Amino acid sequence: MGVNGKIEVAIMKIVVIGGSGLIGSRLVSKLREQGHEAIAASPKSGVNTITGEGLAEALKGASVVVDVTNSPSWEDAAVLTFFETSTRNQLAYEAAAGVKHHVALSVVGTERLLASGFFRAKMAQENLIKASSIPYTIIRATQFFEFVKGIADFATEGNKVRLPTALIQPMAADDVATAVGRIATGAPVNGMVEVGGPEKFRLDELARKYLAANKDPREVVADPKARYYGVEVSERTLVPDDDARLGETRFETWLTQPAAKAAAGTH
Ligand SMILES: NC(=O)c1ccc[n+]([C@@H]2O[C@H](COP(=O)([O-])OP(=O)(O)OC[C@H]3O[C@@H](n4cnc5c(N)ncnc54)[C@H](OP(=O)(O)O)[C@@H]3O)[C@@H](O)[C@H]2O)c1
Repeated sequence: MGVNGKIEVAIMKIVVIGGSGLIGSRLVSKLREQGHEAIAASPKSGVNTITGEGLAEALKGASVVVDVTNSPSWEDAAVLTFFETSTRNQLAYEAAAGVKHHVALSVVGTERLLASGFFRAKMAQENLIKASSIPYTIIRATQFFEFVKGIADFATEGNKVRLPTALIQPMAADDVATAVGRIATGAPVNGMVEVGGPEKFRLDELARKYLAANKDPREVVADPKARYYGVEVSERTLVPDDDARLGETRFETWLTQPAAKAAAGTH
């Protein structure tokens, strides 16, 4: 406690790699509101984790680096090269700069989704972090509400959206950013933390609710044999463990918020 009974926060320099993205931009705002020196680093601001451009300068004096990048291409070989190269470069520059905590955002169920090249790349990213000398926390989040449109679009054939009935426990990007911010300003776990949404849905049910709210005429068909992004999923493939930290925002509430209009491209 400081003067006037206020909690004092130790101000840190926190570099958010991917700071212009969906999660990164929200995270940078939240950290700055708390008084931290948050740097939004990405190619748009001259920091590139593939070429190394701008990394040494951005990391000077930083205590924490948060990796919320994503690969521009999800093609199998391209996405693997992206996450391996980007992670290796970040960790090497962090070691040189004396960074004390590397935080990375990954996906719940990654080890159950390795039939997908994207998840093999996320697993490679996680393994590089675990093997490095930098104290770390890997945050595995469930699918963002903002991503539900992408799930429906990928599963669309003509006017039908064909999805399995497996469970999904999605969360708002804003709640992901809040959770990442809490972890980034805390001590490294040197392990994994799971975050998820407050409710479980069936994949087909979730897509149906999203399309109905957006007056989208596509019909959602529940097909137990359908795949999730090309991967066979069972009941709990996408669901976090019981000890996951849960976001507060419910899907029905989010659907009425500006973030949902922005995700649908109708704002
Ligand atoms: N979608 C989901 O439901 C979900 C669920 C769980 C976890 N995740 C994970 O969450 C992470 C963030 O996702 P997001 O949706 O927030 O990403 P996003 O909006 O696509 O943003 C990607 C960010 O990566 C940056 N970037 C791209 N290439 C870079 C490079 N060479 N060097 C530095 N930065 C680079 C981009 O910078 P520019 O803008 O400058 O190009 C942008 O800031 C991903 O790793 C993803 O796997 C996603």
